[in-house]
Amino acid sequence: MEILKADNVSFSYINRFQRVDAVKNVSCAFETGKAYAIVGKSGSGKTTLLSMLGGLENPTEGEVLFKETPLRTLDRDAYRRDSAAVIYQSLNLFPLLTAVENVMYPLKLKGVPAAEAKKRAEDALRSVGISETQFKRLPSRLSGGEQQRVAIARAIASNAELILADEPTGNLDITNGDQVVSILLRLAHEENRCVIIVTHDLEIAAEADEILMMKDGMMEREE
Ligand SMILES: Nc1ncnc2c1ncn2[C@@H]1O[C@H](COP(=O)(O)OP(=O)(O)OP(=O)(O)O)[C@@H](O)[C@H]1O
Ligand SMILES: [Mg+2]
Repeated sequence: MEILKADNVSFSYINRFQRVDAVKNVSCAFETGKAYAIVGKSGSGKTTLLSMLGGLENPTEGEVLFKETPLRTLDRDAYRRDSAAVIYQSLNLFPLLTAVENVMYPLKLKGVPAAEAKKRAEDALRSVGISETQFKRLPSRLSGGEQQRVAIARAIASNAELILADEPTGNLDITNGDQVVSILLRLAHEENRCVIIVTHDLEIAAEADEILMMKDGMMEREE
């Protein structure tokens, strides 16, 4: 089922001194049950595109549609809370909440009872290889890779249909990186979610069902 679509979207960063056309006339569509990789050089517009897909930025031109409804007309806070979980490139976690509290946070916002939220958070943390001794640590007491996995656990626990991940393996060694990628692929293939991964790692991209190539803000199709 097609869940998300970018229809001829462009995004320009405009300030007093300059204008950067970061994404130019990109169209692409995403289905549930599939994992997508967005690849391309640094500065090619991957994060900017993901920000529009995740409802963090409105396109300067064009439309992002979630289940055929333009995001512009949706309650974007509700979209981000209920439908689209974004894993950022950095600064993923609330610094004053422990690992398990970070994962529980979006569940609390949704009104999931505390005991159930705690169980779901702990299960998600275990599934990404975070141990009980780390549950109660603040992010500053975890390694970069562990912080990244807590962020992924938060997306897993949220039950969002869309998971948008910006370089989710950027801080991880090969073993943990592979583990995270297989978790993300499993969410697509076994839980019928739509997973979009921005990566510069072509081996990771090769495991996705479809690869989208960004170059100078434009999208080039690859078979
Ligand atoms: N806040 C901003 N203001 C002005 N220009 C920006 C801003 N953020 C990004 N850009 C520019 O927009 C273009 C696309 O940036 P973007 O972050 O989307 O690239 P990327 O493909 O994610 O790169 P990377 O692989 O390094 O993360 C780049 O030329 C970048 O310099
Ligand atoms: Mg980026």
